Amino acid sequence: MRDRIKVNSTKEKTIALVRSRVALQQQVRDWKAAGETVGFVPTMGALHGGHISLVEKAKENASRVVTSIFVNPAQFAPGEDFDTYPRREADDVALLEAAGCDVVYLPGVAEMYPDGSVTDVRVNGMSDLLDGVYRPHFFYGVATIVARLFLHAQPDVAVFGEKDYQQLQIIRRMVRDLGFPIRIVGGETCRDRDGLAQSSRNLYLSPDERRTAGALYAALHRAAVRLSIGALPGDARAEAAAHILKAGFRSVDYIALVDPDTLAALPDDVPLAQGSAARLLGAGWLGRTRLIDNLSVSR
Ligand code: PAF
Repeated sequence: MRDRIKVNSTKEKTIALVRSRVALQQQVRDWKAAGETVGFVPTMGALHGGHISLVEKAKENASRVVTSIFVNPAQFAPGEDFDTYPRREADDVALLEAAGCDVVYLPGVAEMYPDGSVTDVRVNGMSDLLDGVYRPHFFYGVATIVARLFLHAQPDVAVFGEKDYQQLQIIRRMVRDLGFPIRIVGGETCRDRDGLAQSSRNLYLSPDERRTAGALYAALHRAAVRLSIGALPGDARAEAAAHILKAGFRSVDYIALVDPDTLAALPDDVPLAQGSAARLLGAGWLGRTRLIDNLSVSR
């Protein structure tokens, strides 16, 4: 189905809402036949400035942009926030139209997981590290849905936020391993004034928690500076965790310094080599909300 919707009585929307795989594939085929290129931004909705910056990046890299909104049940474990995850279709569509997105793909569960569907995609190894330790189901659900979305949207380029750095690297690996003819582009993390990375889950924070939330970025930033001048990774990680807990986080799942491509942990007792780069990632709980963030580190 392909709806045209009205913004108000005088202006017709230029964005199209597509709910079926077949209609999306037809639209993409038509564009490609006309010599256009397609950029794709997969999301779970509840869009914020970070998502819009990904749409803008897709526009820089392709002549047409498709954004999908699908809250993927396969990446939530029982007891996680699938039921309460914010769903705001009308607001999201308005934001995407203002950003110049051409098509919003809004598949239902049956479109993404047809009855009796039993095929999963697993990027082994990388999916079991870092967040994968705490959310063992998560990256298998992500790889499976992104592979399916790629087959529906058939883009030339797909844009993923660096805010979810482990996800971005896993998607890059999946694309390489499976030979998807898609260029993956990373979009810089958008931050609030205190450094908090923009995320749909920030909506869960109480006003008090929101005041504390910037401590995750502050601690990672301080650790990144220390690492860039030769601090031992073990010391920088421990200091960052202590800073986050002191600020009021309930717990820290991890602060990790890893190889930026493979995500393999770097040794705690060896300073970063001159001229080398790494990624510093952290995750912690503020009340009932789990926040993640990461920064690039170089020496
Ligand atoms: O980053 C997200 O919003 C989701 O993990 C994604 C990539 C849309 C897959 O559901």
